[in-house]
Formats: sequence, C-alpha cells, structure tokens
Amino acid sequence: MAMMRSLIAGCGGYLPERCVPNAALAAEFGIETSDEWIVERTGIRQRHIAAPGETASAMGSAAARQALERAGIEVSAVDAIIVATATPDSAFPATAVRIQQQLGITRGFAFDIAAACTGFVYALSVADAMIRTGQARCALVIGTEVFSRILDWTDRGTCVLFGDGAGAVVVTAGEGEGKSTDRGILSTHLHSDGRHGDILLVDGGAGSTGGTGLLRMAGKEVFRHAVSKLAAVVDEALAANGLGHGDIRWLVPHQANLRIIEAMGRKLNLPRERVVVTVGQHANTSAASIPLALADAAGRGMIERGDLVALEAIGGGLTWGAALVRF
Ligand code: ACO
Repeated sequence: MAMMRSLIAGCGGYLPERCVPNAALAAEFGIETSDEWIVERTGIRQRHIAAPGETASAMGSAAARQALERAGIEVSAVDAIIVATATPDSAFPATAVRIQQQLGITRGFAFDIAAACTGFVYALSVADAMIRTGQARCALVIGTEVFSRILDWTDRGTCVLFGDGAGAVVVTAGEGEGKSTDRGILSTHLHSDGRHGDILLVDGGAGSTGGTGLLRMAGKEVFRHAVSKLAAVVDEALAANGLGHGDIRWLVPHQANLRIIEAMGRKLNLPRERVVVTVGQHANTSAASIPLALADAAGRGMIERGDLVALEAIGGGLTWGAALVRF
C-alpha cells in the first residue's frame, strides 16, 4: 500500500573555528586535568568552542546551508524549520525563527524543541509526523548548541566533556510501500522519565532563577542509565519494523562518550567499523551530535543509498529515543 515517507535528502554540519585540544584545557584554561584522563574515560581528544557573539542560530544556519547544498535543494523549497537546542539565542523568538530569517525564508513555520541531548531524535520524529500528515513537504531539522556558555568551567568533571557545533538534515516528502525496504524514516521511538531529572540538568532558567543556570551531571548515574535504555530503544525500533541487529548498516549514536558508544556496538553485535564515531573530534555537542556525525559520515561518502541507519540518543530529562532511517 502506498504511503508517505520522509526522506533524508542531505546532511550538513558546522563547527566553530576555534579548536581546543585536551592539553590546552590544562595549559590555557587552568583546569586540573590531563589528556590521558579525558581520553581514557571518554575518548574525547578535542572540542570546538564558539567565538564571542557566535550563536546557536548562526551555527545552525551554516549547517542548514551545507545540508541544502548537499541535497541540491533551494532554500525557497523549505516550508518548516525545527530546531533542537538547549542553548537558544534567547527564550524567544525561537532559534528556529531566527534561522528562518537568516536563511531569507518568509513562508512556512519554525519552532524549537527542548529535549537536551535527545533533541535531534525528537525533532526528527516531529518532522516525520508533520511530513507524513501533509503539514510540511521540505523540513530543515537542526541541532545546534553552544554548551561552552552553560558549563561550569570550575567543575572539571563536566567542563571537559562538551563542545559547540551544529548539524542539520533536509527532510523531504516521498513515497513508500509501508515496508522496511522503503527509503526514508521507517519509525521513531521517543521516551522520557522525569523521575531522573536531577542527574543531568541546567540548574536555572528564565522562569525559575531568572538566569541561565549551569550544567550539572552525576556522571556515573547517567552512564548507568545510558547503555540499557539505548539498547532497549534500538531493539524496540528494530522490532517495530521486523528487523534485527544484522540489518543495521550504520549506527550513528549520540556522541557523549566512547565507552557508551562501544558498549552499544557490542550490544547490537555491530563490528566497530559500522559505528560512526566523532566524539574524539567534537566532544559532546548535545542535540548537534547526531546530525554532525551524519554530516561527517555523509561527507566521507560512507553512507550509501539503501543503507539502514540507526540513530539513538539519551540526555537530560531523562529523555531517550531512536530512529531507523533507510538512506
Ligand atoms: N580530569 C582529571 N580528573 C578528573 C576529571 C578530569 N576532567 N574529572 C574528574 N576527575 C577525578 C575526580 O575528581 C575523581 O577523583 P577522586 O577519585 O580523587 O575523587 C576521579 O577523577 C573519578 O571521578 P568520577 O567522576 O568518579 O569519574 P568517572 O569514572 O565516573 O568518569 C565520566 C566521569 C567520564 C563523566 C563518567 O562518569 C561518564 O562517562 N559518564 C557518562 C555520562 C556522560 O557521558 N555524560 C555526557 C552528557 S550526558 C549525555 O550526553 C547522555
């Protein structure tokens, strides 16, 4: 039976110019840490940090432009912009509307989604639903973050883990037969559980403290939830499509920590070379990490037409989710 499918037509990324290797955190930022400690525990080797005045919207616009260019789609075709960010330029206008303006788009609609590191999977899920119900035909789905501005630079347990950047995908309306061999987003699976809200949070906000607050994390607790919840949600996605571990061509995980990523690869019986890993170069860019990793893999020509790609993420909330996409 013919049905609407949302196709990923192109992926783009943007990283701020300034790249800070681990060693510079000790030497220049005065943080009591070492390259060895960070690499051994997280796999992170460097992160990019936004320039003063460089915003989530500016970075998101740059990533969107690259995604549109790679897709061969004109800006004028875009009728929806959905931005996942925990570091918006301001409470409003939404970062998505600022990006709409920066791209010179005056039709359609644009709005933000807040689901921390899972934000991109949430945004992709919303875009997919809107495309399949005919509310949009060409959506930009963007993850963009300037976490450097919400880090406590005196807390070495968190400030070494994050970086700034943006990633974007162009999602267009297509057709399929309702089968797992269709091209496009096969399904998305979202979860949240607010009982764990205090293990990863920003401790302030416009509506509570009046300020922005800083990121706080109980790292071990987050780690404990991550692997089991991520493995379960990917299995849920595969089962919903009658697929198994062996059908996954690429795992594009949220890039928080190499140990979590490797544990996921083992749980899914995937050889290392089937897992896209960018955490070493980008660190954790929260909602930007999956689209940045997708853009990186696509830019290297790794993902081919027909490949089944599994996306998964977990973040503050807790929120977690997965998507299966056939390119
Ligand atoms: N450099 C050097 N030493 C450090 C640093 C640092 N940057 N940070 C902490 N330490 C020290 C601590 O002070 C402690 O020293 P002590 O034993 O003398 O007290 C020691 O290292 C161990 O600290 P822990 O916090 O217990 O370190 P742990 O082994 O738990 O590793 C880490 C911390 C890497 C954050 C780990 O818990 C983790 O990977 N958690 C997963 C969470 C994650 O990746 N979150 C990312 C954001 S969430 C998301 O995106 C899903």
